[in-house]
Amino acid sequence: MVKLEGVASEQAPIVNILSRLTRSLHKQGIKSTLFKFYMLIVDHWFDVRYGTDTSGMMPLDRLTLRSPKKYGRYQATKIVPLKRLFSHIRPIIPPGSVLVDFGCGKGRVLMIASGYGFREVRGVEYAHKLCSVAIDNCNRYKLATKVTTEFRIIGSDAGEYIINPDENIFFLFNPFGKTILMKVLKNINKSLEQRPRKALLIYNTPRFDDMIVNESTFVRTEELNLLGYHLVVYSNMDHPRTGGVRADAAQN
Ligand SMILES: C[S@@+](CC[C@H](N)C(=O)[O-])C[C@H]1O[C@@H](n2cnc3c(N)ncnc32)[C@H](O)[C@@H]1O
Repeated sequence: MVKLEGVASEQAPIVNILSRLTRSLHKQGIKSTLFKFYMLIVDHWFDVRYGTDTSGMMPLDRLTLRSPKKYGRYQATKIVPLKRLFSHIRPIIPPGSVLVDFGCGKGRVLMIASGYGFREVRGVEYAHKLCSVAIDNCNRYKLATKVTTEFRIIGSDAGEYIINPDENIFFLFNPFGKTILMKVLKNINKSLEQRPRKALLIYNTPRFDDMIVNESTFVRTEELNLLGYHLVVYSNMDHPRTGGVRADAAQN
C-alpha cells in the first residue's frame, strides 16, 4: 500500500485519539465527546474495511507541492456529516453529475460521494504525495465496492484548474485562502457562463462564506451543523431550498 514516505504522523494514532478525547471531555462534556468518538470510529473503520489511508492530519509544509503556495494542512472531512449531507441533497443532484473536490487530499470525499449516484468524481490536489495516496485509496475502494463511478485525481493547484463543462458539483473543505478561492470562483463563474447548467457548491467550514455569496451567482440553500462540523450548500438552481439539514448531536 502506498504510504506517505518520510512523513511520519505527529503522534501514534491511539495516543492522538486519547489526548483529543481528554481535551474534548474537559471542554465539551460527555455527550458531545461520545458522539465525536463515534465519528472517529466510523472514520477509522472505513480505512480498516477498505484497506485505505484517509485519516490523520498532515502539515503541508512537510509535503512536496506543485505550487509554491502553502496553506493549512491535510485533514479529511468526517464521514458521518458527509453522508448526512449527501443523503439530504441527493434529490437535487442532477443525474450524471460530476463532482470536483478542490484540495482532495487522500480522496475520502470522492470515495464517499461515489455512493450517491455521481457519474464521475474528480479530485484536484497540489501535494504530490497526497495525490499518490488518493489514487491508491480510490483504486482499493473501487475494487472492494465495485462502484461504477469513475475516479480521477488531478495534480494541480486548484487556482489553475480549468473547469470542465460536465462538472457541476463543487466541494471545498476550507483548503485555501482568499486569493486562490477567488481564482476558483472566477473559473467556476466563467464555466457556468459559457455553458449554463445547474450547479451546487458544498463548503465545509465556510470561512469565506461572504466571498461565495458576493463573488458568485450561488445562493445558500442547505446547511448542516453537527457538533461544530458546519457544511453549507450553495446553489444556482431555481428551486433553492429543500428545507435545510440541521442536526445537532446534543439534541439527538
Ligand atoms: C483540509 S484538506 C481537505 C481534504 C478533502 N477535501 C476532505 O475534505 O476530506 C485541504 C486539502 O487541500 C489541499 N490544498 C491546499 N491548497 C491547495 C491548492 N491551492 N490547490 C490544490 N490543493 C490544495 C491540501 O494539500 C489538502 O490536502
